[in-house]
Amino acid sequence: MDVIESHGARIPVIGFGTMTLKDDVCVALVDAALRLGYRHLDTAQNYGNERAVGEGLRRSGVRREDVFVTTKVWFNRLAAGDLERSVDESLERLALPFVDLLLIHWPNAQIPLAHSIGALCKVKRAGLAKHIGVANFNMAMIEEAAKLAAEPLVALQIEVHPYLDQTKIIAAARRHGMAVVAYCPLARGKVPADAVLQRIGRAHGKSPAQAALRYLEQQAIIPIPRTSKRERLAENLGSLDFNLSAAEMAEIDKLKRPGSRIVSPPQAPQWDT
Ligand SMILES: NC(=O)c1ccc[n+]([C@@H]2O[C@H](COP(=O)([O-])OP(=O)(O)OC[C@H]3O[C@@H](n4cnc5c(N)ncnc54)[C@H](OP(=O)(O)O)[C@@H]3O)[C@@H](O)[C@H]2O)c1
Repeated sequence: MDVIESHGARIPVIGFGTMTLKDDVCVALVDAALRLGYRHLDTAQNYGNERAVGEGLRRSGVRREDVFVTTKVWFNRLAAGDLERSVDESLERLALPFVDLLLIHWPNAQIPLAHSIGALCKVKRAGLAKHIGVANFNMAMIEEAAKLAAEPLVALQIEVHPYLDQTKIIAAARRHGMAVVAYCPLARGKVPADAVLQRIGRAHGKSPAQAALRYLEQQAIIPIPRTSKRERLAENLGSLDFNLSAAEMAEIDKLKRPGSRIVSPPQAPQWDT
C-alpha cells in the first residue's frame, strides 16, 4: 500500500477509523479490514475500544510490524505525568508494547501546552510511541506546538471532506512537514447522497464514497473512513485503484461551502475557518 512519509513515519494512505465500534463488532471489523488489506488503524482512549482493536489485530494474523496503529490521549489527561499514565493504560488495553502514532486528541486551554508536548516527547523517547502528533489544533496551536516539541510532530488529524475548506490549516501543517490525516472523510455519510460525487464516481465505475476518498488521497491527505459494514470496508479500500482527472478534482473542490464543519464539541479551539 502507498504511504505518506513524514519525519521518518510511513503512514498508509487509507486507514480504518473505529470510533463508535465496540467489543465483538469492533474485533470482527478490525480483523476483516486487515485481511482485506488495510494496514492502518485509528483508535483513541476515548473510543472505549482499544482492547477490541488490539484483539482484532492479533486475530487477523497480520504481522504487527506491517500495521500502523494510532491512538490518542483524551484532553483531560494532558497534564505532565497524567499523559504518560494514560499512554500506559492505552498500551495495556491494546496489549501492545508501543503504538506507531500517538496524538493529543483535543487541545486543553487549562493545561500549558509546554507540559503536554513535553510529556508527549518523553513518551516517544521511552519507545512507547514511534511517532507523535496532534489532532484538532488550530494554526496558532500548531506553530506553538512545533516550537515546543523536541521531537518531530509527524501528523495533524483534522476534519477534512469535500464540503469543508481546510486549505489554510493544511498548508500550516505542511509547513512543518506534518502529514494530514482526514477524519469524517465521508462527511459522516453525507457524501453518498451527493449528485456531483455520484456522477464523477459513476464515470469511473466507482461509488460516490470512493470518489470522495480518492479526492483526498490525490492531495496526499490520508482518509480514515469508518464503517460498521464489511462490504463497505472493501468499497472504501477500492478508492486506491483509480485516478480522478484535474477537471474532476476541480469540480469536487467547488463543493466546499460555509457551515459544513461537523465536529465542534465544547473543547474545540477557535477554528481558523
Ligand atoms: N480526532 C478526532 O477528533 C476525530 C473525530 C471524529 C472522527 N475521528 C476518526 O475518524 C474516523 C472517521 O470519521 P467518522 O466516523 O466520524 O465519519 P466518516 O468516516 O466520514 O463517516 C462514517 C459514516 O459513513 C458511513 N459509510 C462508511 N463507508 C460508507 C460507504 N462506502 N458508503 C456509504 N456510507 C458509508 C458509515 O455508515 P455504516 O457504518 O453504516 O457503513 C458511517 O455512518 C472515526 O471513526 C475516528 O476514527 C477522529
